[in-house]
Amino acid sequence: MNETAAGTGGPNSETVILEGRGLLKHYDDGDVQALRGVSLAIAEGEFVAITGPSGCGKSTLLQLLGGLDRPTGGDVLFRGRPLSAIDLDAYHARQVGFVFQSFHLLPTLTSVENVQVPMFEGPWPRRERAPRAAALLAEVGLPHRNTHRPGQLSVGERQRVAIARALANDPTLLLADEPTGNLDSRSQDEILRLLADLRHRRGLTLVIVTHSPEVAAAADRRIAMKDGQIT
Ligand SMILES: Nc1ncnc2c1ncn2[C@@H]1O[C@H](COP(=O)(O)OP(=O)(O)O)[C@@H](O)[C@H]1O
Ligand SMILES: [Mg+2]
Repeated sequence: MNETAAGTGGPNSETVILEGRGLLKHYDDGDVQALRGVSLAIAEGEFVAITGPSGCGKSTLLQLLGGLDRPTGGDVLFRGRPLSAIDLDAYHARQVGFVFQSFHLLPTLTSVENVQVPMFEGPWPRRERAPRAAALLAEVGLPHRNTHRPGQLSVGERQRVAIARALANDPTLLLADEPTGNLDSRSQDEILRLLADLRHRRGLTLVIVTHSPEVAAAADRRIAMKDGQIT
């Protein structure tokens, strides 16, 4: 039997790409203990769904895993290295793609411009950014919307643009916080299929916070949370 890196149901330690060890998060604003000792290990290429009631700390956990915020205790490790010891900006700009429930697209920019935004933090020469963005839009099944602005797109199309943006710097991790939460059931199915395809095609590690039983059922593994802890 292989030992698992963090308790039961996790991957064995050689394949772990992302790990949380004893994560604590306290928000001074409101004096909230959002995470109360969360440990988990995620394997390279794995698709994990994080579920649990509203307010239990799912988004907080995803933000810590993605380096968007720092824990008040414990550490996140990427390929065995603690994020507290590495350049957090470079980590989340280059290794992590983030997808949000409400897309977070810039309303005045076209699709092809929105997708280029993270490329300013990437290695791409200026002249390569627009063709690269167009290729990403084609990859997410949106080849004919390059010059549309978010307001001219359906919600499902907006989420595709946001997914293309998340891929801008060829991340290893794709972290999605309720990516189908604003979608009708048909768009949800399409976005779920797209994320699953991208994960296989690109070898991505995919972590999705979700309330949707369909999305959770598609994952390799489900992690349930309650009151700032994994249950
Ligand atoms: N930026 C913040 N400042 C203060 N409190 C926060 C902040 N973000 C989340 N919280 C609180 O932390 C707890 C966990 O929130 P969150 O991680 O968003 O849960 P979930 O995503 O599971 O709904 C909640 O009580 C929430 O109100
Ligand atoms: Mg949330």
